[in-house]
Amino acid sequence: MTSSKETPPSADTIRAMDDRHHLHPFTVFRELSDKGARVIERAEGCYIYDTDGKRILDGMAGLWCVNVGYGRERLARAAYEQMQKLPYYNTFFQTTTAPAAELAGKLAEILPDGMDRIIFNNSGSETNDTIIKTVWYYWNLMGKPEKKHFISRTLGYHGVGLGSASLTGMKFMHTPFDLPLERFHHIGNPYWFASGEGRDPGEFGLIAARWLEAKIKEIGADRVAAFYAEPIQGAGGVIIPPETYWSEIQRICRKHDILLVADEVICGFGRTGNWWGCETYDIQPDIIAMAKGLSSGYLPISAAALGRRVGDVIWAGESEYAHGVTYSGHPAAAAVALENIRIIEEEGLYSAAAGPVGTYFREQIATLADHPLVGEVRTQGFLAAIELVEDKATRRPYPNDRKVGYTCRELSIDGGLVMRAVRDAMILSPPLIIERHHVDEIVEKARQALDGTVEKLKLP
Ligand SMILES: Cc1ncc(COP(=O)(O)O)c(C=O)c1O
Repeated sequence: MTSSKETPPSADTIRAMDDRHHLHPFTVFRELSDKGARVIERAEGCYIYDTDGKRILDGMAGLWCVNVGYGRERLARAAYEQMQKLPYYNTFFQTTTAPAAELAGKLAEILPDGMDRIIFNNSGSETNDTIIKTVWYYWNLMGKPEKKHFISRTLGYHGVGLGSASLTGMKFMHTPFDLPLERFHHIGNPYWFASGEGRDPGEFGLIAARWLEAKIKEIGADRVAAFYAEPIQGAGGVIIPPETYWSEIQRICRKHDILLVADEVICGFGRTGNWWGCETYDIQPDIIAMAKGLSSGYLPISAAALGRRVGDVIWAGESEYAHGVTYSGHPAAAAVALENIRIIEEEGLYSAAAGPVGTYFREQIATLADHPLVGEVRTQGFLAAIELVEDKATRRPYPNDRKVGYTCRELSIDGGLVMRAVRDAMILSPPLIIERHHVDEIVEKARQALDGTVEKLKLP
């Protein structure tokens, strides 16, 4: 089924084509087929609009990425102008393009000191697979070829490639695909609300960090290549580490000569109130992965930033760095990313979450803690999780088959607010341009969705 440009297809035609031919990511196909996809037609600022004309406040900035909001003409123009001038050229055979070179330079300027060698890709998954190979290559160059094991965390999300999905700590993403690969290990995460067991957060943070040391000892430090983690675990449910956690992790990595890779795909570009989540938690990683906010999702682009320790060794390698993709440093995507970074700088969006609207966001989201369904509200920067439980006192979650989070998500979207459900945690990661009135709307609609969930599922 196709349609011509002159006669745009109706929403029903789009749904029918989608249903017949389009396999969506992370979807139970038959479930979607029964229901039919909501067709999103356009967007402006913090709002998306579907083909029924319904206006929905996008509390997830797309998929944690549209940091500068929708409808930025400057970004469309940057793509248009670059595509007219040079829509594509590769960087394989000793050529470069101005946007790729400028973007690499700009990133080196805004990244933590010393993170100054950049490898471009198109997605977070690709970048994490690139980093895995680069880390293996590094240890080969260092004459320590046995240092090849990766340690990451349960509920960590690093993507869907063979390596990045192996880093990801989610069983439902492993079992159907016979993953993880060998040499990928997972430790518990600093999820105080779920596993803190009456300890204070600081004490629990140290315990959780020391699971890394135990795992290193089990594998043998001489075989461990790197520890891989998001500053705040995003897709795992906005798991915000206790304050003691990261400094202890850093100490352990240094002590055992283990590289530290920070996956900043969500946390980068202002999400936590600084350019980088690493700044918020005072982490000094060896490598940073970034994607999403790099172009605010306007075009696909991602990157790995290597600090001096790894970057200098890779740079000096005598043989070819035999890795790269057709669209590494794609000029149009790089031009859009550059313009996006200019917007973030000009409007101070890198620190907006640390400013008055950020404070207001966290204060107002916190008021939802009094709702009978809510066990904990967690916030940092412009990230929030509202975790729903059956028993507030014991933190007992609802059984999966009650579909509490799913129900709340559906009611929320129907009510005009995109919240995501991770298990039964309702997640928010709004565009960094939100204003106080958006915060008020988010809180009002989130409360309505919570009330609606109690009513619909007849919860006590
Ligand atoms: C922390 C993190 N790393 C990696 C990825 C994978 O990125 P992509 O979906 O662009 O492959 C994601 C996606 O959500 C992510 O949140």
